[in-house]
Amino acid sequence: MNVLVVGSGGREHALCWQLAASPLLGALWCAPGNAGIEREATCVPLDPMDFDGLVSFCRDHAIDFVVVGPEAPLCAGLVDRLEADGIAAFGPRKAAARIEGSKGFMKDLCARHSVPTAAYRRAASLADAEAFIAEQGAPVVVKADGLAAGKGVVLARTEEEALRAARAALEGAFGEAGTELVIEEMMAGEEASYFALVDGETVLPLETAQDHKAVGDGDTGPNTGGMGAYSPAPTMTPALCEEARTRIVEPLVRALAAEGTPYTGVFYAGLMLTAEGPKLLEVNVRFGDPECQVLLPRLRSDLLAALLAAHDGELRDFDLRWRDQAALCVVLATSGYPGAYRKGSAVRGIDAAEALGDVTVFHAGTARGDDGIVAAGGRVLGVTALGASVAAAQRLAYDAVERIDWPEGFCRRDIGWRAA
Ligand code: AMP
Ligand code: GLY
Repeated sequence: MNVLVVGSGGREHALCWQLAASPLLGALWCAPGNAGIEREATCVPLDPMDFDGLVSFCRDHAIDFVVVGPEAPLCAGLVDRLEADGIAAFGPRKAAARIEGSKGFMKDLCARHSVPTAAYRRAASLADAEAFIAEQGAPVVVKADGLAAGKGVVLARTEEEALRAARAALEGAFGEAGTELVIEEMMAGEEASYFALVDGETVLPLETAQDHKAVGDGDTGPNTGGMGAYSPAPTMTPALCEEARTRIVEPLVRALAAEGTPYTGVFYAGLMLTAEGPKLLEVNVRFGDPECQVLLPRLRSDLLAALLAAHDGELRDFDLRWRDQAALCVVLATSGYPGAYRKGSAVRGIDAAEALGDVTVFHAGTARGDDGIVAAGGRVLGVTALGASVAAAQRLAYDAVERIDWPEGFCRRDIGWRAA
């Protein structure tokens, strides 16, 4: 079976790395991939949003199955487009991907089906926003409705700050994503994540994982896409996983099916663990990045078979086996990230890091320079280790990080602190 993975980050490297081990696999391609993905797949310089280019590539190369990594092409309807051309693909269709692509859609769906989430109001004008901010009072959360690469959320401590955020968004601070807003009650609690595969009907839980979004040690500083992750995540106890599945994820999956837009793919629920139980913060329609880099090294079952079962509606008869070992991933990013940063610095020592054993260095923003690997993005490497416990995986991951020779890079020194 010939497979094309769409995307170019650490998540897609982890996907290619696992898919490459599948006995079902024929040829593996990745569009556009990166310098590390080249080890597992043939990279093709196609943009994930170039649907015409992807469809013709699939036809020309007899691709049997496409695995879409990032949310943007999913929300824009890549799976629908591939299916219309007879190409099977893993991930939700456009109508179901709205659960990530429109926060207002997600909140309305929760409201219609009694799924616990923060109180909210949708606002398309400053007058509407003002009215609900006044009614809700501070603190209050102002969100751009659409995809804003994690930047469209303002946690406002005062009503004035909330109004400023609403005005900025409506005036175009987040482009199209902010032409509509969701104003929410501020919830208090610890954040946690829940991951599952969904085939339209059945929810098959994945192992637990937790990322660190803040750029600085002690979870301080601005938010990033994720500076590291670990699995398992002890905060997600079996009882909490059960509650998240039965009270949040299954009701939403049933709701989407009942409304004629069944959900297939990875379901990633961002939760707030409040005094009244877990409440839904957001849904992502894809693997987390870097959570994928700690989940997949723990997976013993064939990933390709699992993704095919999700696509074919056969998860009811499927189960997954996991390693007992824990995994921990430390992200190395270019100095300046998540703000402005330079590209092109040389990254050395990756082989030396992997030579430690039980270490895999997943590439994110890397490219091949004349003289080896160079940095080509904000998040550049995900140094991932397995160990008998999160603490052991953490020690090994940081030993491996020491072997990476990249003066222009930095990482957090405390990934996994809650669990280790
Ligand atoms: P989102 O993209 O909706 O998950 O929001 C990004 C981050 O903002 C979350 O991970 C939370 O840390 C925070 N956040 C979002 N909504 C709320 C809320 N209603 N109450 C408290 N924190 C929130
Ligand atoms: N690590 C957070 C995300 O993938 O959205």
